[in-house]
Amino acid sequence: MNSQAKLHVLVPRAEIDSTIKKLAAAVTRDYNDKNPLLLGILKGSFVFLADLVRQLNFPLEVEFVRVSSYGSGQQTSGKVKMVQGLKLDVKGRHVLVVEDIVDTGITLAFLLDYLKKKKPASLKLCALTDKPSRRRVPVKIDYLGLTVPDKFLVGCGLDCDEKYRNLPDICVLEE
Ligand code: IMP
Ligand code: MG
Repeated sequence: MNSQAKLHVLVPRAEIDSTIKKLAAAVTRDYNDKNPLLLGILKGSFVFLADLVRQLNFPLEVEFVRVSSYGSGQQTSGKVKMVQGLKLDVKGRHVLVVEDIVDTGITLAFLLDYLKKKKPASLKLCALTDKPSRRRVPVKIDYLGLTVPDKFLVGCGLDCDEKYRNLPDICVLEE
């Protein structure tokens, strides 16, 4: 880890846990009889998705796609690359995309468009955090955990140059 970097806890673990419980209740209400496919976006969503599915007590399936929009560091390149696309057929399935953070919206707009073409029965988005001040492309978040300020965040799956994903809290990174 970079010894110069300073971390401040923005969202402590207890608040993340209660947020995920509320999201799980809403998802349960809407999907408990639908055998949904929860589609995590790698890598950032893996922690949130793991926390979320353990609060869901009904039949569901999990799949991942991997996209990359960032080069290294904190700036989006503005271009989204599908690094690993869908390997299964989602036609007629209820797909719930699970994401760690919606920032500019570029990644989600690209991914939702990609998925829509595959004709799922329904397509919704569940995001742990939203940074609306940075939005460049409109994205509808059907299930939102927390609105966060325009700071670079790490922890709970969020990284900076692949570091800090393992922090239990969501922290602000100040270089
Ligand atoms: P968007 O395409 O700009 O909405 O970016 C979405 C992706 O950028 C997220 O899935 C994250 O991987 C990454 N990202 C956006 N903001 C942050 C942040 O504050 N910390 C770490 N990663 C971020
Ligand atoms: Mg991500």
